[in-house]
Amino acid sequence: MNMISVGIIGIGNMGSAHLNCIAGGEICGMKVTAVCDIDVLKLKAAKEKYSGISTFTDYRELIKSDVDAVIIAVPHPLHADIAVCALNSGKHTLLEKPADISVTKARILNETARYSNAVFGIMFNQRTNNLFAKARKIVKGGGIGKINRSVWIITNWYRTQHYYDSGDWRATWKGEGGGVLINQAPHNLDIWQWICGMPENVTAFCSVGKYHNIEVEDDAAIYACYKDGATGVFITSTGEYPGTNRLEIDGTAGKIVIENGILKYWKLSEDTEAVSRESADSFVQIDSEYSEFSAQPETAHKGILQNFTNAVISGEELIAPGTDGINELEISNAAYLSEWCGNKKISLPVDGAEFDKILLQKQKNSSFKASETERSDGSYSRRWAVRW
Ligand SMILES: NC(=O)c1ccc[n+]([C@@H]2O[C@H](COP(=O)([O-])OP(=O)(O)OC[C@H]3O[C@@H](n4cnc5c(N)ncnc54)[C@H](O)[C@@H]3O)[C@@H](O)[C@H]2O)c1
Repeated sequence: MNMISVGIIGIGNMGSAHLNCIAGGEICGMKVTAVCDIDVLKLKAAKEKYSGISTFTDYRELIKSDVDAVIIAVPHPLHADIAVCALNSGKHTLLEKPADISVTKARILNETARYSNAVFGIMFNQRTNNLFAKARKIVKGGGIGKINRSVWIITNWYRTQHYYDSGDWRATWKGEGGGVLINQAPHNLDIWQWICGMPENVTAFCSVGKYHNIEVEDDAAIYACYKDGATGVFITSTGEYPGTNRLEIDGTAGKIVIENGILKYWKLSEDTEAVSRESADSFVQIDSEYSEFSAQPETAHKGILQNFTNAVISGEELIAPGTDGINELEISNAAYLSEWCGNKKISLPVDGAEFDKILLQKQKNSSFKASETERSDGSYSRRWAVRW
């Protein structure tokens, strides 16, 4: 096979950007043959623009059709259900982030993927940024020794009240399943765990409507503890401007700081633990080798689409395997549960039943109203790329 046919489920902002990209011939080996949306006006517009494509209002019908693969770009609470249906039908599946809003459903999804022969990827487009990939390589290769602490301040996701008012599903427990932790921060939570691994437990403080008139959090701080004694702090917000995007990872043999599109790396000549244990001096300077790396333009969504296509056609390794999606969701579900339970320390894996029970309660009281979805612009937005 040197060309796969794909059906896109959900052609709002994100799905129509994927549609225009693929139909515009930007992904080698992939063509769009079908689209699905519950909004018939969007289907009509897509059909007018790309006359050859089939249209569906029910995703099950699209999945049953003769497409080789599907891209799922619907609101997050539907992600796992639709992906399970696609994988069970043997369709290669590329799922938008997050994997879902509940780890319970993401676990079912991963179990389904385990028994499926189909390729399963997730749109963690920020993994294509060379600085994060470089940091991961250094850390996994032992280049900073054992991690002591990571601190990520990612507060440059500024959004206005107009943004939150632009769709009634937005920033509601029922429509979206959360705020900044489930919408903007999944990219960063994923990369945090991609580089530093998964924490053993999490304590969090999430502020509901600190900067906006919304029922979910627009500000959160997570304190994470790891099995080997490392700790981590993750701070995010949609209310600060200009905000900060700064990741610092300190280890026993070096340090990494990523900020303003530069990765700074100090590699120590000796391990701090060994020096502390063995030195006869009280105050010592440890020599270090310093290097810097600059951010290159990331391939972003197109990079993930091309990689997914190559994985289907020639078995290329996925940059973001779909089963990785659960990791950042474990962290955000744990953060919510911590906040809901009086900032209690929450062990991972999260108690999915307890999380679902409280979320359901919040959804029952949610101000969500099903209504018109937003107008789609059909192109990738700079606000979805890494911003320094
Ligand atoms: N990777 C990224 O950078 C990125 C950026 C933006 C959005 N996203 C993700 O993409 C997803 C969609 O976000 P969006 O901004 O495009 O939202 P959107 O509201 O603009 O689009 C969602 C579309 O799904 C359709 N839909 C709803 N229920 C459906 C169903 N049952 N069957 C078929 N279609 C259905 C809606 O009518 C709408 O057209 C979200 O999960 C979001 O997190 C990812």
